[in-house]
Amino acid sequence: MNGFDYRGNELFVENVPVKKIVESMGSPVYIYSEKALRDSLSAYQEAFSGHRTIIAYAMKANGNLKILSLLGKMGAGADVVSGGELFRARTAGIPVEKIVFAGVGKTDVEMREALDAGILMFNIESSMELERLSRVAVSMGKTAPVALRVNPDVDPKTHPYISTGLKKSKFGIPMDQALEEYKKAARLPGIRIVGIHQHIGSQLTEISPFRDAFDRMVAFARLLKENGIGVSWMDLGGGLGIRYDNEKPPTPKEISHEILSRMKGLDAGVILEPGRSIVGNAGMLVTRVQYLKETAVKMFYIADAGMNDLIRPSLYGAFHDLWPVEKRSGKGRKGDLVGPVCETGDFLVQDRELPPVEPGDLLAVMSAGAYGFAMASNYNARPRPAEILVSGDRFSVIRARETYQDLIRGEGIV
Ligand code: LLP
Repeated sequence: MNGFDYRGNELFVENVPVKKIVESMGSPVYIYSEKALRDSLSAYQEAFSGHRTIIAYAMKANGNLKILSLLGKMGAGADVVSGGELFRARTAGIPVEKIVFAGVGKTDVEMREALDAGILMFNIESSMELERLSRVAVSMGKTAPVALRVNPDVDPKTHPYISTGLKKSKFGIPMDQALEEYKKAARLPGIRIVGIHQHIGSQLTEISPFRDAFDRMVAFARLLKENGIGVSWMDLGGGLGIRYDNEKPPTPKEISHEILSRMKGLDAGVILEPGRSIVGNAGMLVTRVQYLKETAVKMFYIADAGMNDLIRPSLYGAFHDLWPVEKRSGKGRKGDLVGPVCETGDFLVQDRELPPVEPGDLLAVMSAGAYGFAMASNYNARPRPAEILVSGDRFSVIRARETYQDLIRGEGIV
């Protein structure tokens, strides 16, 4: 994995031994590679160079300020889904003219904040939302730039919880209602149409769902044009998968080829909203094994990280590779790597051949840069881990480990 490799038996992130980081920062700890982050954004930028394009990083994958600022300085925009994300993006210095705002449940307050900020566009998910945005904008003496999120009804062939472009999904406006909605948008006083939006799902590892969705979106853009409605942006969403195990997802280059070859004559810029494919393989979660416990049916390795730190295995049955921070000789065993949380669903690895492990060993849960820390919670009153960024020979704390005081902030005993 780019940025993460062994020197001898020891795992390094770029030029820093993981052991050294944990010695000073403790565990569990998220560690990211700056090089890996930069390389993954550059791959998109290079693939689309020559076409008017915004890479609007889907910051829900990892909203750490330093990561946002680093990507922003390289030219990325942001895809935000809440007032909180808009606040984070702006605090990190992401230019508002590169921010798009998606999500099915935007509130009046969030609409006002985004209108005040002057974002590039709202990605609208329903007819009622469109009407509300128009009212809010008019009340502020503004017009809101919008794209309608069209649901192309394409099966992304991924986990059902992260499929978003099927007919039965809550997201977007069904294709067969979309033209009518655009006509309505054109009539509303507080609305200015600037784009079309779609996003069909996450962790897509095949090219065919992208092709089908792009075909439908481009055909729809042409239909709009015939109806006198032009758009200056095609926002084609995110969703490109990464390698967790032995998946072979398409590359940004392959995606750009599919998109740009279909865009002829449309005269629109492209917006992409990658999240996972920017940060996923740029981070890992390091945990220390505390106890080994053998029952009649299973071997448990009990670690100091659990489902509150990384929920993907519990929630989606997601696979994350496991690398020892220091390789031991000998034979591994089949078992579960579990956390200290009081739930049977609290596991990071289940029924897998694990490397040889002794109590006290450090293990790296790989590909945890996306939807790792971002989905972490304080369940069981567990402070969330520190986040560390490695840049060449140096590492820096980009989020301090939470303290017990952080756990009770805002609470009081009356
Ligand atoms: N754009 C929109 C409108 C989205 O809803 C999402 C993700 C993205 C972009 C970014 O997708 P990506 O490039 O990261 O695949 N927690 C789940 C993933 C949920 C994705 C939600 N939406 C997981 O851990 O797998």
